[in-house]
Amino acid sequence: MNESIGSIQTAALAQIAAATDVRTLDDARVAVLGKKGTLSLAAAGIKEVPPQEKAAFGQLLNAARTAITAALAEKQAALREQADRAALAGIDLTLPARRVPVGSLHPLTLIRDQAIGILRRMGFALADGPEIEDEFHCFDALNTPADHPARNEKDTFYFDSGKLLRTHTSSVQIRTMESQPPPLRIIAPGSAYRRDEIDATHLSAFNQLEGLYVDREVSLPDLKGTLEYFFREMFGTSTEVRFRPHFFPFTEPSFEIDVKLQIKGQTPRWIEVAGCGMVDPAVFESLSQSRKDQAYDPEQVTGFAFGMGLDRLAMIRWGIKDIRLLIENDVRFLKQFA
Ligand code: PHE
Repeated sequence: MNESIGSIQTAALAQIAAATDVRTLDDARVAVLGKKGTLSLAAAGIKEVPPQEKAAFGQLLNAARTAITAALAEKQAALREQADRAALAGIDLTLPARRVPVGSLHPLTLIRDQAIGILRRMGFALADGPEIEDEFHCFDALNTPADHPARNEKDTFYFDSGKLLRTHTSSVQIRTMESQPPPLRIIAPGSAYRRDEIDATHLSAFNQLEGLYVDREVSLPDLKGTLEYFFREMFGTSTEVRFRPHFFPFTEPSFEIDVKLQIKGQTPRWIEVAGCGMVDPAVFESLSQSRKDQAYDPEQVTGFAFGMGLDRLAMIRWGIKDIRLLIENDVRFLKQFA
């Protein structure tokens, strides 16, 4: 009996040693330790062992099981290491890691966020309004008469309902003043739409940033100082800024703002970047009617407003010659801003 345990152990250890993979190793385990394995069957034979030999037989059995279990574990570890090494064969772990493409912000997003950042530091809060507007908020409340060319069907996208795609973000001025009393200092970046012929400098959908400041005693120097500061933050502290008299129905006096800049590869020149002016009292009067109060009494409050094209600012900043590049999403173009 004792001898047979010795040979069972020897045979099992040999089978374990000969195993070449996880499968044959498991076969070896089952053959010796399984329910019907050689060692299990031998252990069942303890019933027939004379009582005085039982202890010695038990010890022998345990020793054999311990040795076999240890051999199995050792072989399993060796096989695993072998498999790991095989899996890595031919892989050069010293090669630099492959670059993961992470994307980058769109130039318009960069410009918009920079503009918002500058104006927020000056106390302007973000405001918002619908892109599908009515004529009242886009034109009438902004003192724009019915026969103004901007209201023409040729220039504006109208829906059958009579609503329209806002032609400028100035409608947000009205929406904000309807819902909030002064003092008010807001900016509203967003899309605007015009039926323009599409070319290198025009798209039918473009991006503006509107600003409005209303309080007691807001004056023209406030407007000038704010926007001069803004464009110098935007384009460099020594940038020259000029205000050219202009006309908008909703501001009086009105100006267009030019900055003197050198676009990449060109000689420095004056470039128009924004419209602005002091809020026309007629706009405040219209608000008194729609709000049914005197919060915007033109005798009490004054204000300034401005609007700029963000696409334009991006084109100036990076010397982009064709506005269509901003909407084509060509990765070769976009990755230059990463
Ligand atoms: N809404 C004007 C435009 O789109 C710009 C502007 C805004 C002018 C605010 C004056 C005040 O051209």
